[in-house]
Amino acid sequence: MNYQRMMIKDLQDLYQAESEQGRQLPQLASRANNGALRAALEQHAAETQQQALRLRQMLERIGETPGGEGEVPSGVRGLISETFQKAEQVQDPDIRDLVLIAAAQKMEHYEIACYGTARAMAHTAGMDEAARLLQTSPDEEESTDKRLTDIAMPIHKQAAQREPAFAQ
Ligand SMILES: [Fe+2]
Repeated sequence: MNYQRMMIKDLQDLYQAESEQGRQLPQLASRANNGALRAALEQHAAETQQQALRLRQMLERIGETPGGEGEVPSGVRGLISETFQKAEQVQDPDIRDLVLIAAAQKMEHYEIACYGTARAMAHTAGMDEAARLLQTSPDEEESTDKRLTDIAMPIHKQAAQREPAFAQ
C-alpha cells in the first residue's frame, strides 16, 4: 500500500466509522436517562450524518468510492457492541448514563485521532481544500466531547454520593 492508497483507505475507514456512529447514536440516545445527555447524543447523531456526508463528497471528488470494502472498522464495531452490552447489564440509570458518555467520548477521541492523520496526509499531498474540510468535523467532535464532560460531572457526583464509602 502506498501513501496515496493509505490516505484513501483512512478516509474510507473514517467514513465507515462516522456512518456507523450515525446509525447507532440514536439507539444509544434512547437508552439515556438524563435529558441533556439524550439531547446531546441526538444532536451529535445529526452532526455525524453531516460528517459522513463530508467524507463521502471528499472521496467522490477524487474519484473514489466512499464504501471501500464496505467494512466498519472492527475497533468501532467492538466499542459500540461492548457499550450496548454494558448498558444492558447496568440497573442504575446514572451509571448507565456514565457508560454511554464514556463510550461516546472514546468514539470522539478515536475520530479526532483519525482526522488528525487524514488531515496531515491531505496537507502533505497539497489537497488544501480537503485538509480544511478535515478540520471542521474534529472541531465538532471536540465541542461534543466538552459538552459530554459537562453533562457527566454532576452525574458522577450523584452516583458516587449514593456510595458513601466511596464518595469523598
Ligand atoms: Fe463524528
